[in-house]
Amino acid sequence: MPNKTLTVTDNRTGKSFDFPILEPTIGPDVVDISEFYKNTGMFTFDRGFTSTASCRSRITYIDGGEGKLMYRGYDISYLATQKSFLDTAYLLLHKELPTKEQLDSFSLELKKRSFVHESMKKLFDAFPDNAHPMAILSSAVAALSTFYFDHLDLDSPEEVMEMAHRIVAKIPTIAAFSYRYSNGLPVIYPDLSKGFTENFLYMLRGYPHHHVELSPIEVQALDTIFTLHADHEQNASTTAVRVVASTHAHPYAAISAGIGALWGRAHGGANESVIRQLELIDNVDNVEKYIAKAKDPNDPFRLMGFGHRVYKNFDPRATILKKLRDRLSDELNINSQYVEVANKIEQIALNDEYFVSRNLYPNIDFYSGLILDALKIPKEMFAVIFVIGRTPGWIAQWIELKEQPDMKIARPRQLYLGPNDRTPQ
Ligand code: ACO
Repeated sequence: MPNKTLTVTDNRTGKSFDFPILEPTIGPDVVDISEFYKNTGMFTFDRGFTSTASCRSRITYIDGGEGKLMYRGYDISYLATQKSFLDTAYLLLHKELPTKEQLDSFSLELKKRSFVHESMKKLFDAFPDNAHPMAILSSAVAALSTFYFDHLDLDSPEEVMEMAHRIVAKIPTIAAFSYRYSNGLPVIYPDLSKGFTENFLYMLRGYPHHHVELSPIEVQALDTIFTLHADHEQNASTTAVRVVASTHAHPYAAISAGIGALWGRAHGGANESVIRQLELIDNVDNVEKYIAKAKDPNDPFRLMGFGHRVYKNFDPRATILKKLRDRLSDELNINSQYVEVANKIEQIALNDEYFVSRNLYPNIDFYSGLILDALKIPKEMFAVIFVIGRTPGWIAQWIELKEQPDMKIARPRQLYLGPNDRTPQ
């Protein structure tokens, strides 16, 4: 038994049980309850896993009270302002920031893998017009597993890294294709002379035999957005990836599940909902009315882009994006009507007892939508942008799960409240 334990006493019987306390590098101690059922005959109940650590991880650290976020020990503001998204992706996958040579070779490898099998086009053709790009993306990533199945040896570190690089490289192409097909536009193949983020914008906006003007400021803004989304420890979509991967399913099936989880408006779908909500509110005179709706317990309306399960002070990614939005407002032609409405919502909510007492602050999605809109990225692509940024994080989490020798299939228990045996005797 380790030095530190938590003693739990069952006040029905007076019996006490000791549970080991595990110490993290930083952050709250963690009580190991894996033997709880074996020792006490009871399950624990934790709706939405608000108090449960589901794994050991060395990837991302969040302090929700302090508004701190680090990937592999590097503060998010350092990565977002001093490093590129590819540096960050390399850091997540390879555990260290790359040297110049490592970065060049990583970038080249991703370029070489950025094309998708031509047969995939038949899949895209099968979707109805106006299909949501997130639905197409999730299906296409699951379908990608059919092309990389036969020789998959997940015990080989080289093969694991190949699977990792391949999906990071192909996600932007599949994402851009998803948009092009859902709008009946000709698909644009990757341009190997362009960097990762520039190439994605090019595939999204380009036309065959036609020059596309992409300003460095647009590319840099999107690159920062990718970096800010690259990982976020055990959120809903990452947990979905880990749960599926824990059954030894194909890694691309796990990523596809992550995309499904991310789509919901309580998670990655929120940035699309923020812009739709700003459109709905329409002008500053209507803000008070919608704030009142958000506060009404009998009204399901919520202020999109406010609140977070973990950040209870501020979301450090939102702080970076707010500064970026203000810096870019002239150069990027950010919709001033949206900004006015957003500023008024922020100003009222940050001083309103309802929001303050519940620790509801603007999250990353509150600002990312305005920047993406200024980058002329269609609303239905906002969550897809999130997916491109998050893929290195999901893959790093998948690799970490695989490397843990005591990895177990994810299989929670339940508090059963249904009928007892009703079978006629
Ligand atoms: N507007 C109005 N009230 C809210 C909001 C909101 N955006 N968010 C939470 N509340 C209220 C709830 O009604 C609840 O009030 P009550 O205690 O009187 O019942 C209280 O605040 C706590 O809310 P929960 O839903 O229990 O908090 P939880 O941690 O489970 O949810 C979540 C977090 C899902 C992000 C929530 O705040 C929300 O729905 N926000 C809007 C959607 C959004 O912006 N999502 C993006 C998250 S960031 C990301 O995924 C990258």
